[in-house]
Amino acid sequence: MVGKITAVRAMEILDSRGNPTVRVFVELSDGTAVSSSVPSGASTGENEAIELRDGDSSRYLGKGVLKAVANVNDLIGPQLLGRSADDQVGIDRLMIDADGTANKSSLGANAILGVSMAVARAAASSLHVPLYRYLGGTTTRRIPVPAMNIINGGAHADNSVDIQEFMAVPLGAPTFAEGLRSVAETFHILKKILKSRGLSTGIGDEGGFAPNLKSNEDAIETIIQAIEQAGYRPGIDIAISLDSAASSFSTDLTSSYDMKRSGSGPMKSADLIALGEEWVRKYPIVTWEDPLAENDWEGFRLFTEKLGDRIDVVGDDIFVTNTHYIERGIKEKTANSVLIKLNQIGTVTESIDAVRMCRDAGWRYFISHRSGETEDTFLADFAVAMDGGQLKTGSASRSERIAKYNRLLEIEQELGNSALYYWR
Ligand code: PGA
Ligand code: ZN
Repeated sequence: MVGKITAVRAMEILDSRGNPTVRVFVELSDGTAVSSSVPSGASTGENEAIELRDGDSSRYLGKGVLKAVANVNDLIGPQLLGRSADDQVGIDRLMIDADGTANKSSLGANAILGVSMAVARAAASSLHVPLYRYLGGTTTRRIPVPAMNIINGGAHADNSVDIQEFMAVPLGAPTFAEGLRSVAETFHILKKILKSRGLSTGIGDEGGFAPNLKSNEDAIETIIQAIEQAGYRPGIDIAISLDSAASSFSTDLTSSYDMKRSGSGPMKSADLIALGEEWVRKYPIVTWEDPLAENDWEGFRLFTEKLGDRIDVVGDDIFVTNTHYIERGIKEKTANSVLIKLNQIGTVTESIDAVRMCRDAGWRYFISHRSGETEDTFLADFAVAMDGGQLKTGSASRSERIAKYNRLLEIEQELGNSALYYWR
């Protein structure tokens, strides 16, 4: 029997950028006591669920989350007392109804998600099963292929690179542990190459290097060099995944762009699509997220029409983990994959609904962290539970990223021979 909720309380903590975020504690009648912490994005989509911030400029430059904390302590918590912790859908529904808005702006998605994740973890703990098995079922055993973000640009770094994320994907490795090793080695070799070229080896928000490279292409070519020097075959052992986060260099979020950091200059959707075709021809790219801006549905559709049979075209800011937008995307063939971020939608249940919609449509889904993270490893268990192919959780540096990788190593070891790891 799973325990009943006896206490729910929240506190303000700091995320990996030193900004406030919410941690929620849940206690159950059987003595279970757990907590979970909420991440926070920088290049956020405009239709994401609202992260409630205090706006009080005398604290944390207005970024405090004491209102969200109070909403958990005073408004959400009391309504959950006595409920069975495994009533995830009922509890998430109760919070959605209590909030009453379409974007969770009343109670705050940060308040709601903190409770939602902590309730899931409490139920798993009460049942003495790992979180991934509680959420995924008894046969859950596939470890996702990591997309390790080894060069950071765009909104995650102050450098000359427009594209936000350049990721190394160990798709040819026999196990997660071996895959992780190969991309971590590539990361270290990349550091040596950057150093030898007199470039900065300082890191960006997700732990990748943030050098002032000559161009966006230079970033890809330098990574290919690092893969080779680390002793791996580009495209066979390790492929490349990109997140343009194109909204961040779009001037109207719809069809006009300005890649000014690298000096590539103004562009229209068609120019970015032509660039995409050229790069996919030239480089071992397997996945491309947000190649166009969040309101450029037509540009996205054309990009997918041209490249969707060769690579995963992933919608992040355009879909914001929301079935309303994913449904439209499926109808209009806007992409062929969705990035899943729990805090974009605000509950565990709705995130799983988004995954289910992708599965039903034959679309892929990639589980993702945010650029502002905490030491919470919920995401690693969630990714395994969702049985998806790929996880984005940053580079081989910064402990908030490494915590997730280490949790996946633990899960793989725990599963032993039963563990599955494969790309397709
Ligand atoms: P964010 O970036 O967490 O800053 O939004 C991650 C992403 O765009 O995938
Ligand atoms: Zn993204």
